[in-house]
Amino acid sequence: MGGSAEKMTDAPAKEVDLASEAFEREFERFARFIRNDSSAVTLGLSDAEQELRALQDLRTRHLGKKSAIAGAKKLIGRVAAEDRAAFGQLVQKTEAAMAESIETAEESLNAIIKSARTAREAIDVTIPGRRPRQGHLHPITLMRQRIEDIFVSLGYAVEDDREIETDFYNFDALNIPEGHPAREPQDTFYTTEGFALRSQTSTVQIHAMQRRGAPVRMIAPGRVFRRDTPDPTHNPMFYQVEGLCVDRGITMAHLKGTLAEFVHRLFGPETKTRFRPSYFPFTEPSAEVDYSCFNCGGDGCRICKWSGWIELGGSGMVHPNVLRAANVDPEEFTGFAFGLGIDRTCARIYQLDDIRLLFENDVRFLSQFR
Ligand code: DAH
Repeated sequence: MGGSAEKMTDAPAKEVDLASEAFEREFERFARFIRNDSSAVTLGLSDAEQELRALQDLRTRHLGKKSAIAGAKKLIGRVAAEDRAAFGQLVQKTEAAMAESIETAEESLNAIIKSARTAREAIDVTIPGRRPRQGHLHPITLMRQRIEDIFVSLGYAVEDDREIETDFYNFDALNIPEGHPAREPQDTFYTTEGFALRSQTSTVQIHAMQRRGAPVRMIAPGRVFRRDTPDPTHNPMFYQVEGLCVDRGITMAHLKGTLAEFVHRLFGPETKTRFRPSYFPFTEPSAEVDYSCFNCGGDGCRICKWSGWIELGGSGMVHPNVLRAANVDPEEFTGFAFGLGIDRTCARIYQLDDIRLLFENDVRFLSQFR
């Protein structure tokens, strides 16, 4: 049996050698991870992950239950007693060497994967940021705020009232009864029966007097609507500011002084005013107000169409019927009122050839007003 025992001793050792050689051959491609070659360190994330999976397969094949080394382990009990210790050590040493190679490569691969992930998730704080586009106010809003500031400093309250009105506020209370010719140029958009989009901010005169009674001093900026076909000087929706001052003893002189002060503050102290007799149903007497051109000072230029004057709006002494409609006693109180176009004034100041530019919301146009 000695001969066969001898054979038994050699054959298992040979098997361990073969297992070791087979492992070395397959592990060759992972050796770079132990040496940490540059080809290993610069591996991309997905390549590194693939290599890690391949290494784990390799571990299963060479150290798993069905591996050659596992088979050799089972032989330990069957080798001759005098060779058993040496064989056992050989198996163990070989297995440990394989495991160590795999572990070292695995650690290195894990480190490569970790740093590749970190690099992928890193933020480059030195890349210049994208500047957010900053908004700004619309030129009509800027103009409205300038007008409001002036009148607020003169002691006027700012009223913001409804855009949908009844005939009473838009016409009757303003001394424009049914069938009055003044209704026609202001024909507007009707909603449901009895309601219409207001065609003038004069409606707020009535609301303000009803709410506050007299005395009252207020301006009312806001949108108005008319059935106009849009053209360079018309738009079916535009902006007005209404003004109203009612108190005991108010005269035309207060009206003239107030509007003169207004244009001084808006265009400069050298600005002159001019009042032309006119007609409005809600004022008596009525006047149209002009101011001397802010560009040429009255000599005549393109902006004032060579007249030296620019129209500001309408004005007058509040008609007693209007006071009465708002329950203010015309025997005790008198007042003046005025109305001017915000967008018209805005277009004039910025020399816009077409008022519709203010309503088209083209940012290439609007961004010039920041
Ligand atoms: N409401 C007039 C219009 O839309 C403007 C106006 C004229 C308002 C004279 C007034 C005024 O308060 O007194 O054309």
